[in-house]
Amino acid sequence: MKTNNNILFVCLGNICRSPMAEAMMRTYLSDYKQLKDIAVDSAGLQQFHAGDAPDPRTMEVLRRNQISTSHQARVISANDFSHFKYIFTMDNNIHNEVLRRKPSDSICEVKLFRDFDPKPADHQVADPYYGTITDFENCFSILERCCLSFIEFLKTQ
Ligand code: 4NP
Repeated sequence: MKTNNNILFVCLGNICRSPMAEAMMRTYLSDYKQLKDIAVDSAGLQQFHAGDAPDPRTMEVLRRNQISTSHQARVISANDFSHFKYIFTMDNNIHNEVLRRKPSDSICEVKLFRDFDPKPADHQVADPYYGTITDFENCFSILERCCLSFIEFLKTQ
């Protein structure tokens, strides 16, 4: 039944880390004909920002890297656990909460996205929300490494 490689990124508010990762992954996958049918989306755990565009600092860092997005924040739902093969979480708290919400019959793979980082200093993508644009740039660099590393993994599948 699960023949897709669809990818969902999850953070807390769905305005900083996960929409950045979503836009990056979609852009990078578009370079590979054999990977172009993969659906990529993002969601948050909390609904404070539901319906909002990504944080202006996420938009700025994406713009500087010629990556566009039209994402609007949303909360993860039960359907996500059947639609997506991979659910990538940004930090340990999010990871544990996603696992708690995962239906018992779901076969999706919930993974800390930073497990794909070839240079892991930490297993988490730190929340940049209370930080500066530099924190968002650092977030971009981490996500870039993880996206490219995951794409290399997908190409071997
Ligand atoms: P995100 O960052 O989880 O990467 O989208 C946050 C965004 C908003 C809040 C916290 C983290 N907030 O507390 O509103």
